[in-house]
Amino acid sequence: ESPAQSLYNEPYRPHIHFTPESQWMNDPNGMVYYEGEYHLFYQYHPHGKTWGPMHWGHAVSVDMYQWKHLPIAMEPDSLGMIFSGSAVVDWHDTTGFFNGSHGLVALYTSADGDFQQQSIAFSKDKGRTWHKYEGNPVIPNPGIKDFRDPKVFWHEASKKWIMVLAAGQEIMFYRSSDLKTWEYTSKFGENQGAHGGVWECPDLFQLPVANSDKTKWVLEVDVQAGAAAGGSGGQYFIGQFDGKEFVNEAPKENVLWVDYGKDFYAAQSFSDMPDSRRVWLAWMSNWQYANEVPTHPWRSAMSLPREVSLTEGEDGKIKLLQQPASEIKGLINKEFINSTVQLSHVEKILCLQPDAPFSLTFKMKTDDLSRVAFSFYNSGTTNGCNLVIDKEAGEITFDREKMKMSHFHKDFPAKTSAPFDTEKVYLKIEAIVDRGSVEIFINDGEQTLTNLVLPEGESFSISGASNNGELEVDCKGHSFISIWK
Ligand code: FRU
Repeated sequence: ESPAQSLYNEPYRPHIHFTPESQWMNDPNGMVYYEGEYHLFYQYHPHGKTWGPMHWGHAVSVDMYQWKHLPIAMEPDSLGMIFSGSAVVDWHDTTGFFNGSHGLVALYTSADGDFQQQSIAFSKDKGRTWHKYEGNPVIPNPGIKDFRDPKVFWHEASKKWIMVLAAGQEIMFYRSSDLKTWEYTSKFGENQGAHGGVWECPDLFQLPVANSDKTKWVLEVDVQAGAAAGGSGGQYFIGQFDGKEFVNEAPKENVLWVDYGKDFYAAQSFSDMPDSRRVWLAWMSNWQYANEVPTHPWRSAMSLPREVSLTEGEDGKIKLLQQPASEIKGLINKEFINSTVQLSHVEKILCLQPDAPFSLTFKMKTDDLSRVAFSFYNSGTTNGCNLVIDKEAGEITFDREKMKMSHFHKDFPAKTSAPFDTEKVYLKIEAIVDRGSVEIFINDGEQTLTNLVLPEGESFSISGASNNGELEVDCKGHSFISIWK
């Protein structure tokens, strides 16, 4: 066994989700594709397993799942810590940093505690070394306490760089021609969306709407408290952006939640993708308990990369879909179940000793459904978690409350529920299970439910029970190749 393998064999160490080798991590930052590599930077505290003076950690990958760890990209300086932000490729040297060629520019928040301003840095060697711009900060603090997390992109229609920034409980938009001088254009958020806490880590991008000839803009905004499952989580708005202003076209009364589980925060999409996909990933934790999750010697993982798309339903409503990025399919190793199970009373569906992460799909006719419960990791001596489908309530609930290890913190043992479309002919649920987490995609990603789980022992069994006579469930499962490092 190589040292890398023993290092990556700790309890709850995911195999296909990104984790730092050791110490504390939070938000994904600076996600950009450049010269054949995906870059993932992240909020990192190299001197402890809890949040502390923030650096940007760094990893690169060619496929978004096998990550190579690189040295820390940026350390705190005289302007403060290096908080969250984004990165872009300056293809046409608008900054003048690249002698007429191109390179990477990172845009981040310099945080001297609550005094937060926006700064930039550039790299001429594919992100290996970074130079902070001598004119920092490029946006000084205007007297707003929470003023952070710049996400920047090139807006072709107005030929400007756009910055989306979280400011208190609102979003502020800025624009620039050279990434150094910024002009404020508008703000968004008053009386819209969820306001249980400060707004953080926004993202904004345009997507075509499948089944129509429209294109729409998606504004993603994280809210530090009071999200769908309690604590921190993401919401989104769908509308138009003209280079200056975002107009929400979704009904104001309903908050649109990105994910209904407890552990999907600060999602950020890759800039400069090599194809037309929009792919994001998020920090798989929750500020309620992030500092205490019992893993060692690291703390926190990222979600799988997810392709985000829009589609128009038969009801004319535009929906956001999230699917595991197609690269994840390339990890499929072997099929371990492909059968139709008749469920009535409690029935064991399968038991496996997973040495690698896997994906399980259940498909059933919505008409035949009333209430079904699947229990995972339930060994008879230890309590597992449950997935309960309740048609009357129109909800799918993931419950990790009874697992013993959940009780390290009062907010962890939670039941989290996502709505599902009971009018559809079939209900399809895909669960991707890695060590330490379950990501659930309902009806091809119309809703997702992402939760950390801390099972005792590694055996994974599933039994199902339907309270409505016989229920036919198509079960398909395959294991993934385990990626150790
Ligand atoms: C979100 C966040 C950001 C901030 C960073 C600090 O999780 O609070 O708003 O930039 O974490 O680590």
